[in-house]
Amino acid sequence: MNTPVEGFSKLSKSEKINWIAEHYTKNPIASKKLLEQYWNEDPKVQKVHDEFIENTLSNYYLPFAVAPNFLLNGKFYAIPMVIEESSVVAAASNAAKFWLNRGGFKSEIVGTEKVGQVHFMFHGDTGKLPSFFQQLKPKLINSVSAITKNMEKRGGGINNIELRSLDDKLKGYHQLHCTFETLDAMGANFINSCLEQFAKTLKSEAKTYSAFTPEESELEVVMSILSNYVPQCLVKAEVSCPVSDLDQAGIPGKEFAEKIVRAVEIAKVEPHRAVTHNKGIMNGVDAVVLATGNDFRAIEAGVHAYAAKDGHYSSLTHAKIEDGIFSFWIELPLALGTVGGLTSLHPMVKLALEILGEPTAKELMQVVAVAGLAQNFAALRSLVTTGIQKGHMKMHLMNMLNQMGATESEKQQLVQYFKDHTVTNASVKEALEKIQSQ
Ligand code: MEV
Repeated sequence: MNTPVEGFSKLSKSEKINWIAEHYTKNPIASKKLLEQYWNEDPKVQKVHDEFIENTLSNYYLPFAVAPNFLLNGKFYAIPMVIEESSVVAAASNAAKFWLNRGGFKSEIVGTEKVGQVHFMFHGDTGKLPSFFQQLKPKLINSVSAITKNMEKRGGGINNIELRSLDDKLKGYHQLHCTFETLDAMGANFINSCLEQFAKTLKSEAKTYSAFTPEESELEVVMSILSNYVPQCLVKAEVSCPVSDLDQAGIPGKEFAEKIVRAVEIAKVEPHRAVTHNKGIMNGVDAVVLATGNDFRAIEAGVHAYAAKDGHYSSLTHAKIEDGIFSFWIELPLALGTVGGLTSLHPMVKLALEILGEPTAKELMQVVAVAGLAQNFAALRSLVTTGIQKGHMKMHLMNMLNQMGATESEKQQLVQYFKDHTVTNASVKEALEKIQSQ
């Protein structure tokens, strides 16, 4: 039944659906029906989604939620989140409420610099490169003037271009390391267009540089691409309050604060824990990044590289108690955009940005960092007190009941019942069967 196909991309959507259903699914009629059931009823809206990628058959739903009550730099936000994992939005909302009564979140932008590189090989006399580069640099900048014109008008553009030699790491390897300000755009297209032109100019200038031998003038451009590692495109977010304000059910504030600090210290020194600690942060970060139409793979890659910037993988959050004040903060590299890309195409992304008050990229960086910090606070708060399973399994209960085909009235009864019973797959199944047999 599984079979290869020629010219699949040229088939119409229904031909594609028929082909995949017939060759790769057990029940073609049901599969076709399912794929069609998830189409948007408005063909115009569906077309927008179809055209994001190639070979679109249908849509794949994820829940779109909001976590309200975030007080950030004195302003209230309801933060849109797109995520499938139960309890993430509830945790964000709880953390928002918790800090609302303790001064809210503060955040600041540390930098907004984006990076791109032209990687090239030069096997000649490297002593000639600095003077070649000196005369090349203004030509590089000139060569992209048509691309940078509009960005410059708005206050962005190229920040700098450096020649970097990595000959000691890989024989003959050099690069043009370029930095950019792309304002409210994530900037991938802008940066990559500049870099590809830089590469052409580099090659053509090398050909005519009089001090190069014929072999040197044939330097090889390997590739030109932006970097998703942006340690200078950085945002900091923080919460703080007197430890006495942290009294929890049964735990004095000072003890609770010390437990949080200890948990962060563990994530700082132990990579197994650090990865899970940071995964919890990314629950919040990715959900907002996705809701606002940004590239979560780029954010993930950059953030994890940043977590390892000191030579070992470590916590993205920090915590301390000083003079009776508990402080908890995060620093994240986030290359985000609020214009371009999906932001004006995806109707739900547009709505998410509207809910956030049409933020600038800087403001969105702050919101995302706060979502990550809140998520980490909520996770650590559970972990060092009740453990996470209690809350998590309660949220998971609904998924289990849906999966087991429980009716609305059965769900209501069981939610009540599991308020003081332990949720496991077996216990839920048993309780449901008991109700059904009555
Ligand atoms: C689960 O998605 C995230 C946590 O594991 C994070 C953590 O352990 O800090 C709860």
